[in-house]
Amino acid sequence: MRIGVLTSGGDCPGLNAVIRSVVHRAVVDHGDEVVGFHDGWRGLLEGDHRRLDLESVAGILATGGTILGSSRVRPEQLTDGVERAKGHVADLGLDAVVAIGGEGTLKAARLLSDAGLPVVGVPKTIDNDIASTDVTFGFDTAVGVATDALDRLKTTAESHQRVLIVEVMGRHTGWIALQSGMAAGAHAILVPERPFDLDELSAVVGRRFAAGKRFAIVVVAEGAKPRAGSMEFETGGLDVYGHERFTGVARQLAVELERRLGKEARPVILGHVQRGGTPTAYDRVLATRFGWHAVEAAHARAFGMMTALRGTEITLVPLADAVERLKTVPPERYTEVECVL
Ligand code: F6P
Repeated sequence: MRIGVLTSGGDCPGLNAVIRSVVHRAVVDHGDEVVGFHDGWRGLLEGDHRRLDLESVAGILATGGTILGSSRVRPEQLTDGVERAKGHVADLGLDAVVAIGGEGTLKAARLLSDAGLPVVGVPKTIDNDIASTDVTFGFDTAVGVATDALDRLKTTAESHQRVLIVEVMGRHTGWIALQSGMAAGAHAILVPERPFDLDELSAVVGRRFAAGKRFAIVVVAEGAKPRAGSMEFETGGLDVYGHERFTGVARQLAVELERRLGKEARPVILGHVQRGGTPTAYDRVLATRFGWHAVEAAHARAFGMMTALRGTEITLVPLADAVERLKTVPPERYTEVECVL
């Protein structure tokens, strides 16, 4: 068998572990050949690829990023490129394409699969927002990075009696905010799923100082928004990929809290540090298992399917189901966290 593999969308720790696992399982156990497309769907649309052998994946298990490169493509680039992609798959004699990516990539994978390409999906994203899988790799690493940052920020916040508003990634969902905030004992956690009320937030932080505490830590997901009418809020429209442009919720909150409470409030934006660097052991294992099962899916001709974690088992689920909706933080999870707004 000849298998193509690509990584697309925002990168995340564990991508290299999947690539390595695909190559190991395919080449060593099945005697397959593997090619990697460069920079995600762009590589497939342009036929830009290289052969991946055991040597080319040596030593990458613990490395961040992706040796194949990644990019985002606009939906219309893909729709217009279906025939070209089919042509490259045919020219290269590929029997399967393993597409590793998040929401956008998996939607594209579904589109190409519906158009007749033999695609197997592998879910990745630090946001952990893909439905049909309990967890995506990259998430554990991102939560670890954010938690470490929060632990560090607590000590400096206390020294200076400040409110630190820490913005973590999470475009549509607040999984990173929830988990890191809980792990670090944040005093308020704001997530996109539940619009926040500035009066309530201000009261929670104010009560803390009134009780004699010398600092407060607020964790906010980048996609969190105020409840309508709760505060003036700058929005940034959409970028060319149809993604919302964020204008800095932490920055806006810091201005408002400082004005209301008379306490120094500073925004801290963790940004891409959450996506870079070596994956945790958990993410390396999950990524390796996904790669192994993606190759098995290709051999079983289970196209249009995606690897998923259910409990402790890896299973296959239809791409169509996985992209139907996002996995958001359920309301009952907020109630487990003290002072969540
Ligand atoms: O989807 C993963 C993610 O890291 C989001 O949390 C974040 O909003 C987005 O990617 C950032 O993307 P980019 O690197 O293209 O700015």
